[in-house]
Amino acid sequence: MTDGSFVGTPAMPPRTEVPRPAEAENEASMLAFERPATTAPAASDAPAQPEVGPTGRPMPSFPDPRPVVAGRPARVVSMCNQKGGVGKTTTTINLGASLAEQGRKVLLVDFDPQGSLSVGLGLHPHEMDLTIYNLLMQRDVIIEEVVVPSGVPGMDLLPSNIDLSAAEVQLVHEVAREQTLQRVLAPALEQYDVILIDCQPSLGLLTVNALTASDGVIVPLECEYFALRGVALLKTTIDKVRERLNPKLEIDGVLGTMFDGRTLHSREVMERLVQAWGDTVFHTVIKRTVKFSDATVAGEPITAYASSSAGADSYRQLAREVLARWPGE
Ligand SMILES: Nc1ncnc2c1ncn2[C@@H]1O[C@H](COP(=O)(O)OP(=O)(O)OP(=O)(O)O)[C@@H](O)[C@H]1O
Ligand SMILES: [Mg+2]
Repeated sequence: MTDGSFVGTPAMPPRTEVPRPAEAENEASMLAFERPATTAPAASDAPAQPEVGPTGRPMPSFPDPRPVVAGRPARVVSMCNQKGGVGKTTTTINLGASLAEQGRKVLLVDFDPQGSLSVGLGLHPHEMDLTIYNLLMQRDVIIEEVVVPSGVPGMDLLPSNIDLSAAEVQLVHEVAREQTLQRVLAPALEQYDVILIDCQPSLGLLTVNALTASDGVIVPLECEYFALRGVALLKTTIDKVRERLNPKLEIDGVLGTMFDGRTLHSREVMERLVQAWGDTVFHTVIKRTVKFSDATVAGEPITAYASSSAGADSYRQLAREVLARWPGE
């Protein structure tokens, strides 16, 4: 992987130099990603060409996941990007729900004082008795007291609200302050197959706690030019946590979100992303659709709110791609 050094003084290539996926030449091609049959050569003797996906690379097919291996501790993964509004919470909810659909027992951790993950699953911030704040700061609170069902079969939630913002200040005075989340999540490793942590848009102590508790990081990144700025700083933070606190930490993948294949701009950003991060970029890309906001208002994942929508299918595909990347799956 490269170091993402385009960040900081970003220079987009001249438009004419940007190779476009063959499928993306016209406006209707935004749908090409979901349209397997009609683009294949009709003649049976023509060699089968792999379809070019929205990242400009041949699109592999992802197998249905294998059954869960019993007795293995959960894989812990943080959704992390210090830029706001890039799809961290949306990805946590919908990847979690898709993994649950595929037979994994999932725990979502709302680790953002904004509490969007909790609200996005229909909880009211002021009606929560106990939140992750209590779990972090009170030694007598155990995880079972704080976990609530998410409304999705097989998926639970550790909720959060604005109280968590105080933890960031109070943790500074704690011994092993960076390992606090790891310590409180330890009993859940045996109960779940996957734990997804929704980080806040900052690289402060809460995010360092999330990275220290994690096996992997997924970086959601809006397919918009300024989204590329700051990724180098994020990578430096991940590298520092790996060196100093958590040697097993891996980048599981970079996820393009809010992609609009009809615009040259989205395709250019995707092109730069693949140049900088290579195969770390997921083949799966999440397109821009208003259904995600609608699902948030309804307090449900898109896989429940609009189960047969393209957005739901994209997150199901992401779940298969993620499982194919995780060791031992
Ligand atoms: N693929 C998408 N298409 C359209 N809208 C989207 C998409 N993904 C997310 N959104 C919307 O964009 C907004 C921001 O998304 P989200 O809350 O997931 O980002 P975030 O990175 O968690 O933000 P924050 O940094 O504030 O926590 C939300 O209103 C969400 O509904
Ligand atoms: Mg969020």
